[in-house]
Amino acid sequence: MTTIGILGGTGPAGRGVALRLASAGHDVVLGSRDAARAAEVAASLLVRGSGSITGASNADAALKELVVVATPWESTIETLKPLNDALANKIVISMVNALAKEGRELVPLLAPRGSVAAQIAFALPQSTVVGAFHHLPAGEMENLDSDLDADVVIFGDHAEARERVAALVNEMPGLRAVVAGSMSLAGAIESFTAVCISVNIRHRAHSYVKLAGLAD
Ligand SMILES: NC(=O)c1ccc[n+]([C@@H]2O[C@H](COP(=O)([O-])OP(=O)(O)OC[C@H]3O[C@@H](n4cnc5c(N)ncnc54)[C@H](OP(=O)(O)O)[C@@H]3O)[C@@H](O)[C@H]2O)c1
Repeated sequence: MTTIGILGGTGPAGRGVALRLASAGHDVVLGSRDAARAAEVAASLLVRGSGSITGASNADAALKELVVVATPWESTIETLKPLNDALANKIVISMVNALAKEGRELVPLLAPRGSVAAQIAFALPQSTVVGAFHHLPAGEMENLDSDLDADVVIFGDHAEARERVAALVNEMPGLRAVVAGSMSLAGAIESFTAVCISVNIRHRAHSYVKLAGLAD
């Protein structure tokens, strides 16, 4: 069992990841700018399995063993900066995408340093940043009765940290970890989320990424 904090965990993305981590037996703390709101959101989530979900401030969520960043891209760095010390010597998982809506499409934006994950790595020099969960539809993640069977593409420059995150993902129901490679892939992986969401808008679907041809 790992204790996991999710910064910005009250949004759909954080809630979906929290529910599936708790299903795998982990204790999850949803972080928020407002601890009372986080407690309310956590109490509204129906956990299955032996894990738990509680709510706290982002600062308290950052104290957990492993931390997921699930904030909007515009506010990610300002959220992380005051948490630098709390996040030192930890794996920080970014699921943040820099996207903008244009009509019925989502378009990828070029984040400073080429990706949000690289921006986070620069802002948190004492942490080990791994990217994961970018392409998952939050609604399907939150619905534990869905037949979700999705791949989670994982990247980062630290091989051991990537494997640790992959092991965690493989414990989560409905998900398979696929380690893609280094941080240099971050921009491509984050940008591809724009394709995933645009396809879902166009086809009124909840599709997700599943890579064919990999050994199980
Ligand atoms: N939604 C998806 O399907 C999905 C899937 C994969 C990845 N992602 C990525 O995950 C991230 C979160 O997605 P989301 O849909 O959950 O987003 P969201 O609902 O817009 O934001 C998540 C949480 O971030 C906090 N937040 C909002 N504005 C903030 C600000 N200015 N400063 C600090 N915190 C702020 C809010 O929590 P409090 O008000 O409680 O602080 C909010 O509940 C995004 O980067 C997105 O690209 C989303």
